[in-house]
Amino acid sequence: MPLYVAPSAGFCMGVKNAVTKARDIASACIEEELPCFSLGELIHNHFVVEKLSEGGLKVAQSIDEAMGCALIIRSHGVSEAVLEEAKSKARAVYDLTCPFVKRLHDVVKSYSSGGKPIIIIGDEKHPEIIGTAGWCEGEVYILNSLEEVKSLPEQAENALVVCQTTLQPSKWDEIIAEIRKRFPSIKEKNTICSATHKRQLEAQELAKKAGRMIVVGSKKSANTLKLYDSCAKLCKNTILVERAEEIPSHFRTLTWDIIGITAGASTPDWLLKEVVDNMNDIERIESPEMEAQLEGSKQAAAKAAVKEEPSEEKSFMDQVADSMKRIRNGQTVQGKVVQITEDEVCVNIGYKSDGLIKRSELVDKDVALGDTIEVEIVKVNDGEGNVILSQRNIINRKAWAEIKEKFEAAEYIEGEIKEVVKGGLLASINGVRAFIPMSQVAPRFTDKLQPFVGQKAMLKILEIDEAKKRVVASRKAAIIEKQQQEKEAAWAKLQEGEVVKGIVRRFAAFGAFVDLGGVDGLIHISDLSWNRTLTPADVLTINEEIDVKILSLDPEKERIQLGLKQLTTRPRPWDNIEEKYPIGTILTRKVVRLSDFGAFIELEPGVDGLCHISQISLHRINKVEDALQPGQEVNVKVIAVDPEKKRISLSIREALEDAAEDYDGEIPGEEFGDYSEPEQDEE
Ligand code: F3S
Repeated sequence: MPLYVAPSAGFCMGVKNAVTKARDIASACIEEELPCFSLGELIHNHFVVEKLSEGGLKVAQSIDEAMGCALIIRSHGVSEAVLEEAKSKARAVYDLTCPFVKRLHDVVKSYSSGGKPIIIIGDEKHPEIIGTAGWCEGEVYILNSLEEVKSLPEQAENALVVCQTTLQPSKWDEIIAEIRKRFPSIKEKNTICSATHKRQLEAQELAKKAGRMIVVGSKKSANTLKLYDSCAKLCKNTILVERAEEIPSHFRTLTWDIIGITAGASTPDWLLKEVVDNMNDIERIESPEMEAQLEGSKQAAAKAAVKEEPSEEKSFMDQVADSMKRIRNGQTVQGKVVQITEDEVCVNIGYKSDGLIKRSELVDKDVALGDTIEVEIVKVNDGEGNVILSQRNIINRKAWAEIKEKFEAAEYIEGEIKEVVKGGLLASINGVRAFIPMSQVAPRFTDKLQPFVGQKAMLKILEIDEAKKRVVASRKAAIIEKQQQEKEAAWAKLQEGEVVKGIVRRFAAFGAFVDLGGVDGLIHISDLSWNRTLTPADVLTINEEIDVKILSLDPEKERIQLGLKQLTTRPRPWDNIEEKYPIGTILTRKVVRLSDFGAFIELEPGVDGLCHISQISLHRINKVEDALQPGQEVNVKVIAVDPEKKRISLSIREALEDAAEDYDGEIPGEEFGDYSEPEQDEE
């Protein structure tokens, strides 16, 4: 007879918290001789109410009954007005409203503060709904069925829709979908607490497998009745009992059936234990095998069960919980996401209570139901039974570890610049804030910091103080070091005489600077081109990639001399001279020097022609300098070309005569025609 108890059977966190605290408060009040009341029965279970009453907690039906006494507000919560009245009339008020319900109050109060309406899906007679409605400052519409959606007035369009914390998720989905048909852009906030749904799901899973199913709880509790209904649909042998003695005898016969047990949220541990003990205590043993089986079941149950009375500190459920995962603050565990609300995410970490992560502590913003995530236990118990979790702490811890490692190794780490602050920039290194002083922003000082915001940058950690959560970093140091490393790597690769690629970066009067990948070299103007008259801009363009020859390297002075012209063939001016200067061509050129027998005229750099004294003028001249001066520009005619001897004979006279053919007037000096041509000197 395998016996299984659903893990979430019994008190939920809110009820457990209320019962435990109420018992302690009542006992403290007895010592102070102060009567202590709860406003209404603390929970829907008269056995618990009776036990609390024995411990000094009475039930008040109105605040006036508790005038001048201690008054406990139960986990369902009350309206704001009732709470204020209680504070004004009772001597001490203990508000044990469940944190989930309290959050619901906060949500409706905040949204309705400007008079905006609220729609609550839930049972209008339930104390939680009555209390929640009392925190709304505008109109409140309470509905509990699809039909009722039709009755919503038009002004409900601006409402926020919330729900009873114990509402079935499927009911929420149905009704919210119906509301959306009428008001497509209505705002909604699912305020369901996962405890009830989780209990239902676990009970249903058990009921599917069980031959017999026992639901323990008050027959007056709506939630226990719902639990019973959902189990009865899946297991026809389901019973609802308040005490063990109600279990019918046919349920207590020994069979091979699985027997499942679950309990409503108001069922105390000791009642659950009573039922488990009772089911283990089956008298009829049919065979040695069965006896062994029974013994095994008993031992298993005994491991979880407790011999002490229910009022003892260590309850049955605590022991069951003890057999579950143990956790401690600071521990990292894996958990499954079981509920997501706007403000927080509920994670099943295999502990007796689910854990809560506030949105601000959640790093994985796209987390979805059913995802397994890694979380850190911030607090095993926040005082209200909640396990507080964080994802951010894990990331922060990893980030700090990496920052420390990089600091110690003097390595860089990437950060993102987030904002300009007084005196510098604030960067985020995997979520850890790092300050970059203004002097450490860039290699050249700048106080124009806004353009850096949003940039990713490699940072060097200058200082860390984990206790004070302080990191000082330098972008400048990282850039300078990186440049230095690149420079050294580039120098190591350079060899005199090699041809390398480079990018033209800037021009100067004396040459052009070329980036060789971390180091700059200079092409002196004399090494740019064979034609010395050309400037850097005539030959190159900025950012152009070129091949250059390394002429010399001076690592000490960090000077690299580059050559461009060395990669081109030096032009030979006398090549193809006859084609360049055919006989009869008339050119305008400058006289470069004079001699006794004529004038040398430059046709191009490296090519001078001779104009013999007899060819200088139309009339006879005695001295060359009588007709010409160096630097003077003249028209000359090519009259002879000797490539081998590198001689070109020119004639100013013939150029003049050719010009005269088109001229009608008198030609000066025409009367002089006597001249003789001396030998031309070799260059
Ligand atoms: Fe609170 Fe959820 Fe229980 S709302 S009272 S923990 S069912």
